[in-house]
Parts: sequence; structure tokens; C-alpha cells
Amino acid sequence: MPAILQLLDLTRTYRGGGHDLTVVQGVSLSINAGTTCAITGPSGSGKTTLLGLCAGLDRATSGSVVLDGHALERLDEDERALLRRDRVGFVFQDFQLVPTLSAVENVAVPLELRRHNGARKLAAELLQRVGLGDRLDHYPVQLSGGEQQRVGLARAFIHRPAILFADEPTGNLDSATGAAVEDLLFELNREAGTTLILVTHEAELAARCGRVIRLMNGTVVADYAPGEHRESTVHSSRGSSVYPHDGAFGPAGSGAAGGRP
Ligand SMILES: Nc1ncnc2c1ncn2[C@@H]1O[C@H](COP(=O)(O)OP(=O)(O)OP(=O)(O)O)[C@@H](O)[C@H]1O
Ligand SMILES: [Mg+2]
Repeated sequence: MPAILQLLDLTRTYRGGGHDLTVVQGVSLSINAGTTCAITGPSGSGKTTLLGLCAGLDRATSGSVVLDGHALERLDEDERALLRRDRVGFVFQDFQLVPTLSAVENVAVPLELRRHNGARKLAAELLQRVGLGDRLDHYPVQLSGGEQQRVGLARAFIHRPAILFADEPTGNLDSATGAAVEDLLFELNREAGTTLILVTHEAELAARCGRVIRLMNGTVVADYAPGEHRESTVHSSRGSSVYPHDGAFGPAGSGAAGGRP
């Protein structure tokens, strides 16, 4: 399986206030396409910072991130934005919805950026899928935290990213809604071959992933496969697709990363 993400001696130091704070320190690892990986660790251990570096939202102080074959440190801002638009989905810990757009408009943004015709219709269908079919025209301020989180999730995968980063995607959800969102994430992995990288404090969610990476003070202190049960990538015995009217994107399950255009 090819690596979709490679980190080499990655370090991020925040400067300011008279002293430097290194929050990601010498992280090296490789993640294969089509796999699932949980990043765990105490609050402040650098999980969100690491995710932002991997997704090209932030720049490393030193070291390298190779995402989908591109060394991010060699790309300029526009090139990184294009790579994110085409290949990356990101669920933010603090949602980061556009306050002036309704739920359905927020979700449609990644497809509208690509001038996709059916963006709004597909956005409405995905919101239905995350249990928000009756909140399409609500603005973020009119939504609860968990509802905003689900809007953020639908936005993150509407364009079928090759790799989806999710920062505590079930952190604000009750257990039933959280379980439904989890199932959806793993369906994306199985059906569309989407590589999942999840930050979570929840042991059960981490245990569903093929690999767990534990951070402490910005360094990797554990990296293991929980249990015997390894993730599958593209084959699903279920009939339903994560993506309604799958034809909008071409065939689903066409292979992890390699089957993408
Ligand atoms: N822009 C910034 N400037 C200075 N320090 C920062 C900045 N962003 C994050 N930090 C610090 O970096 C450390 C790691 O933060 P990060 O958000 O990555 O932690 P985390 O593991 O995601 O924590 P949590 O579980 O609470 O979300 C923290 O100590 C934080 O205060
Ligand atoms: Mg965080």
C-alpha cells in the first residue's frame, strides 16, 4: 500500500512572549492510503497542531510533510490550497463554519469551489445523512455545538477527499449521534477508500482504527495496532453508499486513492 502521508522529523515551534514553545517535536511516521489512524494524547500534547501541519493548514518550523506525493514545504500558499481543495477534508475541533452561510451553503462550499453543478442538492442529502435534514437553512449561530460539528463533517467529505482529518469529530455529540457519526466515518473509509486520521480522547473510537498513535509533549510515545481486527479499505458488504446518488462522483469503492481521478 502506498503512503499517503509521510512525516520526517517534523517540528513546530511557536515563538513569542520572550520564549519558544516547541509543541511538535521530531515526529516521523508514515501512513498508508486507505487506512484508519487515531491520534490520542492529553490536552496540550500537540494533536491539533500536528493535524494542521499534516493537512497543510500550518507550516512546520523544520522537517517535512509529504501529503499525497507533495512535499508541503515546497508548495506556496496557493498550491497548498489547491491540494487541500482537491484531496483533503478537515473537521475542525472548533467547527469553523462560515457564520454568514446557512448549513447547506456551508456544506456546499468545497464543491462550489470546484464549480460542481449539483453542489447544493448533494449538500442537502449529506446533511440529511448526518441527521440535519430539518436544519438546512439554519445559520451556525442557530445550531447547537453538536449540530455545527455534523455540518463541519458533511462539509469535510462532500468532495470525496482522499484523506480526511478529523479533530475530535465526536467530541460534542451524545452517544447515539456520536455512534452514527463514527459509523459514517468508517463507511467512508470502506466505501470510498478515504484515509481517516482522527484525533480522539475516546478509547472506543481509537480502538476501531487500524492504528493508534499517542502523543505526549509533542512527541510520539506509542504507535500500535489495537487488537487483531484490522480495517478493510474498499470492500463493503453493505448496500447503502455514504454518498447519495453516487454517480455524481463516478463509481464508489473504485480503490483506495489509486482509483481516483
Ligand atoms: N498559536 C499558538 N501560539 C502559541 N502556542 C500555541 C498556539 N497554538 C497552540 N499552542 C500551544 O501548543 C500546545 C499544543 O496545542 P494543541 O492545540 O496542538 O493541543 P491538543 O493536543 O490538540 O490539545 P486538546 O486535546 O486540548 O485539543 C498547547 O500548549 C498550546 O497552548
Ligand atoms: Mg486539540
